[in-house]
Amino acid sequence: MTAELIDLTPYGGVEANAEWRDEVRALAKKRDAVLLAHNYQLPEIQDIADFTGDSLALSRIAAQSPASTIVFCGVHFMAETAKILSPEKTVLIPDERAGCSLADSITGAQLRAWKAEHPGAVVVSYVNTTAEVKAETDICCTSSNAVDVVASIPADREVLFLPDQFLGAHVKRETGRENMHIWAGECHVHAGINGPELAERAAANPDADLFIHPECGCATSALYLAGEGIVASDRVKILSTGDMVTQARATKAKSVLVATEIGMLHQLRKAAPGIEFNAVNDRASCRYMKMITPAALLRSLREGRDEVHVDAETARRARGAVQRMIEIGKPGGGE
Ligand code: 13P
Ligand code: SF4
Repeated sequence: MTAELIDLTPYGGVEANAEWRDEVRALAKKRDAVLLAHNYQLPEIQDIADFTGDSLALSRIAAQSPASTIVFCGVHFMAETAKILSPEKTVLIPDERAGCSLADSITGAQLRAWKAEHPGAVVVSYVNTTAEVKAETDICCTSSNAVDVVASIPADREVLFLPDQFLGAHVKRETGRENMHIWAGECHVHAGINGPELAERAAANPDADLFIHPECGCATSALYLAGEGIVASDRVKILSTGDMVTQARATKAKSVLVATEIGMLHQLRKAAPGIEFNAVNDRASCRYMKMITPAALLRSLREGRDEVHVDAETARRARGAVQRMIEIGKPGGGE
């Protein structure tokens, strides 16, 4: 899917007012649907959802929810992951064109060729991948449990980590693992949040905490700033979007610079209204996440669209890797 070809206002003209909220809630009830929203969604979508969270939390909720329909306000691979975990449920995404540049950075055929070069290696795929890639994977991970997932693999086994190079570099640093090969993919939004920009913002806000998503191009620079004493090391936190909310509640800082997609600011400001949150790069908006408009959500609930299907054999082959992902890093779960 090429970003430039996408109409950014697919279902405009609906205001997220009280009437809209009432209709969305009534239709969700009628369909026995649970509404899930990722932290990068538009604020009005986050606020109407039953649950808002990071990729791992939403996958776990999707797997456990008693609702017969899941409406996934996020991007396509997230809805696909829910379908893989719960094939008997109806999974809807309000706009099926909501893709992901990171998931597009490796195909099933490319992964098969990479595996052939490293026979016996354990394949760890970030959840931001297609179902076809997950079907070729041993364990999936998200940003909140990637370190735990790689640490759970015996030290003598080679690891193929894909597709995000910045998350891969973070995991390699944290685990100290040398036998880990990293695919050179990236998310166009996070790769654009760069080191010089972070250094400049950090210098102008010397007392601010830095919350950095590990997919960011600036993650290594953040650790360099800490290592050089330019920023106090306890102020630099590499976090998944869900862990940013937890950290926002815990920090004593008065201001925080946030390096991730700007939809995140809404949950952070709700979690800690007394703290000033600013984006490191306020142009870091994911056009795919923003395709889930109030109008698209209403259409989805009215018309039962867009239904997400994953071919049964692909889902069967992908399920074990996704189930291992939701178990690892869970309180009382593996690792
Ligand atoms: P998390 O919410 O798991 O941190 O993932 C961020 C992301 O880029 C999802 O597309
Ligand atoms: Fe994909 Fe990046 Fe958008 Fe997340 S922010 S959905 S990784 S393109």
